Amino acid sequence: MKRIIICTAVIAVVGAAFLIPEKTIPLVAENLGFATAQLKIQSQEAEKNPLSFPRTINAKGEMIGTNMYDWTSGFFPGNLWYAYEFTREESIKKAAIRWTERLEPLQYFTRHHDLGFMMYCSYGNAYRLTGDEKYKAILVQSAKSLATRFNPKVKSIKSWEGFRSWSDQKRYNFPVIIDNLMNLELLFFATKVTGDANYRDIALQHAETSLKYHIRPDFSSYHVVCYDTATGGVTGQETGQGYSNNSTWSRGQAWGIYGFLTVYRETKDMRYLQVAEKMADWVLEPGRLPADFVPYWDYNAYQEGFQPGIHSNAFLYRGMPRDASAAAIMASGLLELSTYSTKGKKYRDAAEKMLQSLSGKAYQADAGTNGHFILKHSVGSIPHGVELDVPLVYADYYYLEALLRLDKLSRGGSLF
Ligand code: GLY
Repeated sequence: MKRIIICTAVIAVVGAAFLIPEKTIPLVAENLGFATAQLKIQSQEAEKNPLSFPRTINAKGEMIGTNMYDWTSGFFPGNLWYAYEFTREESIKKAAIRWTERLEPLQYFTRHHDLGFMMYCSYGNAYRLTGDEKYKAILVQSAKSLATRFNPKVKSIKSWEGFRSWSDQKRYNFPVIIDNLMNLELLFFATKVTGDANYRDIALQHAETSLKYHIRPDFSSYHVVCYDTATGGVTGQETGQGYSNNSTWSRGQAWGIYGFLTVYRETKDMRYLQVAEKMADWVLEPGRLPADFVPYWDYNAYQEGFQPGIHSNAFLYRGMPRDASAAAIMASGLLELSTYSTKGKKYRDAAEKMLQSLSGKAYQADAGTNGHFILKHSVGSIPHGVELDVPLVYADYYYLEALLRLDKLSRGGSLF
């Protein structure tokens, strides 16, 4: 009851500050209203150091950022675009433009695979919401840069320059991580706006290879798959950020569900819908998620009797903590899945449950705290010992996206 009164009050106050469209459901109105208020302050703070893109907080609770070359640099501009989409406030749009345009040099960046995240979350949203042609040209150049990492023998885009196995110190020179599926949207976009089929072709070959080698027969997933560039064969199926090579890293499974759905959206090839459904079903099997539907950082890390973690940090964090970012990514993906699947209600209910939990006291920050990030309790990489139980800018991005998607669906509209 108290929560309902607070919710109504927040909607009244926030709604007075900028017009919340009629029929916005309370879960969306309350939380996008709160998120926008946090972001506005975060944006003022961030402006003090305009070359540093907000990412997380330090031990003192202060916001810390990265340079533009980090894989997360596009999310803060993306968050501002989502807040603008909800509020239509000019000051937020100006901030979104400023932070987006600071990434312009990245269009020529080729040193890792994350250009899709960096450019599509920033410039992709900028183009979608403004229609400005200069953004389109930058996105096409970015797709060209990403495409340079494609290897026709392996039929994949190389993620990192190398990867050292946690389990046996073996060094691999062509690692591909499941996260990489998220970069394909940029390539599909480039084909649509240029008519050049090459980008789409690369995306399709990459998706096909991931479908073959990242997904286990039970529809859990490997994080890292490594290839031999001479033969195109698989040389290793490992983990970078999970508990062990045979466990399922929660964020990786979420990237897989979301990424394969993007491929289905663009191709209508039923195999991609089916794999996304089955990966989601695997997560939603009874006992896999805790009661609040926010996963532990690795689905196997807290199961008694599972093989020992491969790294002492992973062992130390056995059983904890949660990863709010995995829940946010999955909530957004499940909402899209609900629009394609015959089991739509199951996926929408699960997504709403995740969003309800993330919007509660346990995961949502108190106003003015948490470095002005919106969500608490995410995990960067436990094996690397970094970002253990902290806010992360990409958790906020997919949480905002999921709330906006829920808003569209609850009005009976389409997502795209
Ligand atoms: N794409 C990197 C991560 O999810 O940590």
